[in-house]
Amino acid sequence: MDLERDHQTLGEFIIENQKDFKYSTGELTRLLSSIKLACKIVNQKVNQAGLIDILGKFGKENVQGEEQQKLDVFANAVFINTLSQREVVCGIASEENEDFIRIENAQYSEKSHYVVLIDPLDGSSNIDVNVSVGTIFSIYRRITPDGTPVQMEDFLQPGSQQVAAGYIVYGSSTMLIYTTGRGVNGFTLNPQIGTFYLSHPNLKIPEDGKIYSINEGNYAMFPQGVKDYIKYCQAKEEDRPYTSRYIGSLCADFHRNMIKGGIYIYPSGTNSPNGKLRLLYECNPMAFLAEQAGGKATDGFRRILDIQPERLHQRVPFFCGSKNMVEKAEEFMSQNS
Ligand code: AHG
Ligand code: MN
Ligand code: MN
Repeated sequence: MDLERDHQTLGEFIIENQKDFKYSTGELTRLLSSIKLACKIVNQKVNQAGLIDILGKFGKENVQGEEQQKLDVFANAVFINTLSQREVVCGIASEENEDFIRIENAQYSEKSHYVVLIDPLDGSSNIDVNVSVGTIFSIYRRITPDGTPVQMEDFLQPGSQQVAAGYIVYGSSTMLIYTTGRGVNGFTLNPQIGTFYLSHPNLKIPEDGKIYSINEGNYAMFPQGVKDYIKYCQAKEEDRPYTSRYIGSLCADFHRNMIKGGIYIYPSGTNSPNGKLRLLYECNPMAFLAEQAGGKATDGFRRILDIQPERLHQRVPFFCGSKNMVEKAEEFMSQNS
């Protein structure tokens, strides 16, 4: 099979499916195309890591007290510049910026109805060691009146209101996976010609899996329910023990589980009472994708997409992946609450 000849490109796919959007003006199409462009620019830099001066620390901390890497800062600038210089968004929130950004140009903000939330570079700890990193994005329609400056409430919408969400894995090949609420589709970049091709149409997470993915170094601090679930995964039974796989880049761990079946857990009790992952630009987009692929995402008790956000950088415990595995983990959580 010849991927180039036989498969749709991402550009063709976005345009062809534009008619399914609720408000079909081409605006979301242009927004997705801008994300595609930003992703290719970041991809090019990631691929040159080691050859150009892009590895290592930037020398500052971000709003969450995490040390910024040069690639965090570069990817953030690429996404913000690419999106804000086109008539595609009226506001952007990023992991790397304390406050959301208003696209001030009045002409743009009147025309644009969408806000984007991004984790521009996910898996920062893997940058220097040639292990997969990614980007995560989440898109909402603004709820405040058109033509006025965007407000915090435009960003603090529950995940169930997402219009689109996706992630990019800069891995052994670069893939962009996204949903607009009509299933999940995956595209692989041909780096020679800079074009994404539809390589994984209508992705579905297997209902069951045999992989559990959690940073077990934090075991002593995990809630009892998580400890019990890990013991369940490790028990010698007919279909167990399961396999443990943890990359430390949510995008890459999620992607593997999506293809093979598995569960990803970042529980409470570790770096903060609510775990480490951020609700708005890590958990919500992944939860939307998981559900669209037939999987499940909860905080151990509640559906992630139902949570009403209170703050831009709010954290939440995260249990995500194959439906039956997440439900089993929830069983252990409820026995210990
Ligand atoms: P980021 O690089 O955007 O800060 O995200 C890192 C996240 C996530 O990608 C990963 O799964 C998790 O942090 C890893 O955390 P630990 O090193 O604590 O396991
Ligand atoms: Mn991240
Ligand atoms: Mn990040």
